[in-house]
Amino acid sequence: QSGLITLDVGFKNTGSTTSDVTFLDGEKGILRYRGYSIEDLCEHSTFSEVAYLLINGELPTAQEFEKFKTDISRHTLVHENVRKIFDGFPADAHPMGVLSSLVTSLTAFHPESLDPNRDPKMVDLTIHRLIAKLPTLASWVYKKSIGHPLMYPENKLSYLENFMKMMFGLPVEDYELDPILVDALDKLLILHADHEQNCSAATVRVVGSSQASLYVAVAAGINALWGPLHGGANQAVIEMLEDIHANGGDVDKFIAKAKDPNDPFRLMGFGHRVYKNFDPRAKIIKKHADAVLEKLGINDPLLEIAKGLEEKALNDEYFQARKLYPNVDFYSGIIYKAMGFPTEMFTVLFALGRLPGWIAQWKESRELSQPISRPRQIYTGETARPYPKK
Ligand code: SDX
Repeated sequence: QSGLITLDVGFKNTGSTTSDVTFLDGEKGILRYRGYSIEDLCEHSTFSEVAYLLINGELPTAQEFEKFKTDISRHTLVHENVRKIFDGFPADAHPMGVLSSLVTSLTAFHPESLDPNRDPKMVDLTIHRLIAKLPTLASWVYKKSIGHPLMYPENKLSYLENFMKMMFGLPVEDYELDPILVDALDKLLILHADHEQNCSAATVRVVGSSQASLYVAVAAGINALWGPLHGGANQAVIEMLEDIHANGGDVDKFIAKAKDPNDPFRLMGFGHRVYKNFDPRAKIIKKHADAVLEKLGINDPLLEIAKGLEEKALNDEYFQARKLYPNVDFYSGIIYKAMGFPTEMFTVLFALGRLPGWIAQWKESRELSQPISRPRQIYTGETARPYPKK
């Protein structure tokens, strides 16, 4: 018997869960949020509208959408004492660790978020606060890492315009928003918004199932996402591509390393627990990578290296036999890099995109009053034995 653990996230002891939020077909490469395909949503929607859809289950009317955006823009400021906590972090601390700490600290400044049985209005307020404050907190981490002053939100801007300005604006000059960058980020965050019971979403559900607050459940999700096998892969992909570039673009050497059973190296951005033919998100992002770099007039050798790597791997028996294809992380970092984000911020961008999905699943789990998660196991240890007589 292997040490099998079925992760029961609170519904039935089936090892799987039920959810109305996201549909994913790994064989056919289908991904839908509340029934709408990611292709349609990328084409016609915005990240803010997709956030509303995931959290509320339906696309908003014009009036509902305006109220949602206003409710969020009212909470973009962070309590000034959170900055005192933030000031204690070293400038080179990894942004994901700082972010999860600051999100947890929100429970201290908004204690009403702790009440497990609070009324729906307080749930909405708690949700709006978190959606509003995450971009502000994320931008702080970047600004401090480069020794620039922290920027305050500007509520007349859209959600992502505001984030871009807090990230790249300076108090000494006007920041010129580039619609190409804002649109590219909008599409990327739509593609990251939810993904069924992935490692970090399951973590949010498990923590939320004990009736811990949304903030600490999401902080736990941020920490799970940080791992290089999960969201941390988008940073690891760029580091791998830069490594290949430094080695004269020798993709064959890295393909051989990835195939070597004695070498722990894996082709980052390749493979998936569920997608066994292709990751539909990777297809869309690859197309956008070409378009964004061309619009920006950037010729990044890493994009050609990535394409060459994909080409070689897809025609290699090892990857074919194991059904390993590029996943969402394989091309996303190339766009983030072209937009000016440093690699340490890539997984923070993944968290920003995944936030609505985490919230939607935490809310669904609470609304259905799922029981506390209590995974079981198959015991493989010693049988009963008496303590040896001295
Ligand atoms: C995300 O779950 C989600 O939905 C996640 C996500 C989301 O939106 O939330 O989609 C986001 O996390 C995408 C994945 C990002 N991670 C990476 O790109 C890291 C590199 N990929 C892998 O480590 C791996 O593919 C996983 C973790 C993604 C999936 O692991 P699996 O399905 O458990 O595969 P496995 O570890 O059981 O490997 C099966 C075989 C093994 O070979 P053998 O032992 O059979 O000889 O495939 C090999 C593995 O060694 N393998 C790889 C490989 N991935 C699997 N070999 C080389 N390079 C790889 N990337």
